[in-house]
Amino acid sequence: MEVRTLQFGLGLLLLLAAQHAPATAIPSSECQRQCGDVEIPYPFGIGENCSLSSGFNINCQAQDGVSKPFLIGDGGFEVLNISLTESTIRVLNFIASYCYNTSTGNMEPGGFAWIDASDTPYRFSDVHNKFTVIGCNTLAYISSSSSNNIGYQSGCVSTCSRMSDLTDGSCSGMGCCQTEIPRGMDYYSVDFKTGFYPNGSQSISNFSRCSYAILMEAAEFNFSAAYINTNKFNETRAGRAPMVTDWAIRNGTASCEVAKRNETGTYACLSSNSECVDSVNGPGYVCNCSHGYQGNPYLPDGCKDVNECNNNPCPSGAVCTDTTGGYKCSCPAGRKFSKQTNTCNPDTSLIIGVIVAFFVLMIFSFSGYMIFEKRKLNKVKQEYFNQHGGLLLFQRMRSERGISFTVFTEAELVHATNNYDKSTIIGKGGHGTVYKGIIKDKGQVAIKRCALISERQKKEFGQEMLILSQINHKNIVKLVGCCLEVEVPMLVYEFIPNDTLYELIHGKNRALQISFSTLLRIAHEAAEGLNFLHSYASPPIIHGDVKTANILLDENYMAKVADFGASILAPSDEEQYVTMVQGTCGYLDPEYMQTCQLTDKSDVYSFGVVLLEVLTGQVPLKLEGTEKQRSLSSYFLSAMKENNVDALLASHVKEQESTELIRGLAELAKQCLNMCGANRPTMKEVADELDRLRKLALHPWVRITNTESESLLDGAPPNAGFEIDIVTTTEYPTQEGDNVPMNPRSSYYAR
Ligand SMILES: *[C@@H]1O[C@H](CO)[C@@H](O)[C@H](O)[C@H]1NC(C)=O
Ligand SMILES: *[C@@H]1O[C@H](CO)[C@@H](O)[C@H](O)[C@H]1NC(C)=O
Ligand SMILES: *[C@@H]1O[C@H](CO)[C@@H](O)[C@H](O)[C@H]1NC(C)=O
Ligand SMILES: *[C@@H]1O[C@H](CO)[C@@H](O)[C@H](O)[C@H]1NC(C)=O
Ligand SMILES: *[C@@H]1O[C@H](CO)[C@@H](O)[C@H](O)[C@H]1NC(C)=O
Ligand SMILES: *[C@@H]1O[C@H](CO)[C@@H](O)[C@H](O)[C@H]1NC(C)=O
Ligand SMILES: *[C@@H]1O[C@H](CO)[C@@H](O)[C@H](O)[C@H]1NC(C)=O
Ligand SMILES: *[C@@H]1O[C@H](CO)[C@@H](O)[C@H](O)[C@H]1NC(C)=O
Ligand SMILES: *[C@@H]1O[C@H](CO)[C@@H](O)[C@H](O)[C@H]1NC(C)=O
Ligand SMILES: *[C@@H]1O[C@H](CO)[C@@H](O)[C@H](O)[C@H]1NC(C)=O
Repeated sequence: MEVRTLQFGLGLLLLLAAQHAPATAIPSSECQRQCGDVEIPYPFGIGENCSLSSGFNINCQAQDGVSKPFLIGDGGFEVLNISLTESTIRVLNFIASYCYNTSTGNMEPGGFAWIDASDTPYRFSDVHNKFTVIGCNTLAYISSSSSNNIGYQSGCVSTCSRMSDLTDGSCSGMGCCQTEIPRGMDYYSVDFKTGFYPNGSQSISNFSRCSYAILMEAAEFNFSAAYINTNKFNETRAGRAPMVTDWAIRNGTASCEVAKRNETGTYACLSSNSECVDSVNGPGYVCNCSHGYQGNPYLPDGCKDVNECNNNPCPSGAVCTDTTGGYKCSCPAGRKFSKQTNTCNPDTSLIIGVIVAFFVLMIFSFSGYMIFEKRKLNKVKQEYFNQHGGLLLFQRMRSERGISFTVFTEAELVHATNNYDKSTIIGKGGHGTVYKGIIKDKGQVAIKRCALISERQKKEFGQEMLILSQINHKNIVKLVGCCLEVEVPMLVYEFIPNDTLYELIHGKNRALQISFSTLLRIAHEAAEGLNFLHSYASPPIIHGDVKTANILLDENYMAKVADFGASILAPSDEEQYVTMVQGTCGYLDPEYMQTCQLTDKSDVYSFGVVLLEVLTGQVPLKLEGTEKQRSLSSYFLSAMKENNVDALLASHVKEQESTELIRGLAELAKQCLNMCGANRPTMKEVADELDRLRKLALHPWVRITNTESESLLDGAPPNAGFEIDIVTTTEYPTQEGDNVPMNPRSSYYAR
């Protein structure tokens, strides 16, 4: 296909002035920076020495009384806008035309033919501009074939046969055609295809006489059908339309890398906080202010810190603080920036933090307090432990192996008794309360919790515990351990299941089938047990509270003397004695009441009362009886005097047992109840006599002559002088039960 182009020599010839060697001298502050509405920033300048180079020279001309800037050059492009940040300049380009001369019938070109910007800072912007052709049956070419440019030719065809074919705003080949241009163009020329009208121009010349072609800013163009049948398009801006050109500092192909070296001393980015950017359109570079700065990078100190806070970029509620090259957003105290809402929200993490910190503090102080309390408690326990001779006890236990004696902790005993629950109480004695408990490895135990202890005994407690722990007799309840770390030490005994001799004799379901001989055996066994206590050590271990209630019975109804350790808890000094008395009413040794001295004979006296109970089946103290009968011992002694012991005896005893046995027992009891301790028999003598009497009972036909026993019984001194039994003469406050352990001395003294 033959393509013929016409070069229009008639067109305006626009040759922009070549660049001169620039002067990097700082432009004078007196340079004019405004022309009409247009600001002229450096490197552009009006007049000599005000621009970076001649290519940036602006001619400010007055037209019709209005100042307008023009690029220096043959064409005189009017400048619309100069942008430093985008490095663009908007100018008014000239529209090329191709019109039908009705009078000659020829097509006549108008406007200009080409633009050469090859030696200038300018390149046609491929981004903003489009080659735009308007007309019916028009073909226009755009060429860039100048010496130093890319070989490029493109064209745009626009056809139409009727006005009705055209649509406003649509540039798609019907009356209007647009095409993009390549990057880097510094020269272009426009040609219209001659004779393109297939049937001569006449056919359409009625409504479209002229065709137009221009490289112009696409954003400024909006096709209108009126552009076809009127010359409105040419008239709007007097044959011109906006075009965008990119400008840069171009010296040959100098890039930033070369320029920054400043070898020629002409590096244009003079401002600090500026940076060099390679030109995107053609060779050369441009300058830009660094991020956070704005202003003129081509001037020293031209880039100024942006006060971003003027636009308040911060989220609502936040405080903006400008920094050099940036800004800082800070939320007020207690608030935190939320990215989701882009606002300052109450800082929940702070609140949570505070709460957590609070709780942590609480926990710490609480646990600290607990530790402190526990240490205190442990210290107290340790003190008690040491006070009670625990260390000594431990030492001895270590040296004397084979002792099955345990030092319990308080916690163990608390656990065993369910914190001393009332339901675990199995007895209340003169010295304290006895609980039944279960201890791991030891099974059932009886735990005695004493009421008081004296200072002296505290010190010797451990020692004495050790002695007691070594007592191992079949008729004595075994002491399995103790607890020292409490104010008053606790004793732990083996648990004896079958109640007491007291229950056997006086209990509600006292079994009549229990034979007298069994009772006698039990009494004998108890005597053997007490004898063992008395003879075990020197000075003798005194039971201190011998009574039927303390004679326990195991599963075989064998006697087990209980509570023997209690005596060592008794105070010995008179001062404490006032408020603290050993033993149980009815069993109390009258001598002890006077001397405050517990002896082995005190136990013998009490055992005498036990014998009386066995013999008579009566309780040692009868509160409801006549004054004479109140105390069993005094009643018995007076009956003995009157030789009327039979009145006291239980009927079955009277009937079944031999008088010899009864007489022997009565006599033994009488001797035990002697007012003077020295005159009482020893526990061994009592046990032996009981042994003899038992054999007599089992084999009444056998006469056993035991001279020693005989002499003992016969040679016993008279018990004359025993008239007063303090226990019986003391009037007690209200009593519950018959044989309630009590404190006669305290009430005695209280009056
Ligand atoms: C421009 O600068 C040159 C050289 O520095 C000087 O000779 C000339 O006078 C200046 N022109 C004006 C208008 O200041
Ligand atoms: C220059 O461009 C800016 C932004 O692009 C615009 O606000 C301003 O009006 C323009 N000035 C002229 C004279 O076109
Ligand atoms: C048409 O051509 C004639 C002769 O060359 C000329 O005088 C006339 O001005 C032209 N008309 C237009 C509208 O250009
Ligand atoms: C172009 O002009 C038409 C009619 O004049 C108008 O409807 C349309 O919005 C315009 N488009 C632009 C992009 O200005
Ligand atoms: C061109 O014009 C001639 C007469 O001048 C006519 O005969 C012919 O049909 C036309 N062709 C077209 C395509 O309009
Ligand atoms: C053009 O106008 C002439 C006279 O004004 C008329 O004779 C002719 O038919 C018109 N042509 C078209 C295509 O409208
Ligand atoms: C376009 O407008 C310019 C300026 O007004 C004028 O010189 C030129 O002749 C016009 N061209 C056409 C084809 O009307
Ligand atoms: C351009 O480059 C030449 C050498 O390549 C140098 O002599 C001249 O000073 C430079 N001009 C500018 C404005 O950088
Ligand atoms: C470039 O060199 C010239 C001359 O040495 C100097 O005046 C100018 O400050 C330098 N520019 C930069 C940006 O270093
Ligand atoms: C110059 O910096 C501004 C703002 O940082 C940015 O918008 C612009 O694109 C940069 N210009 C060039 C040529 O990098």
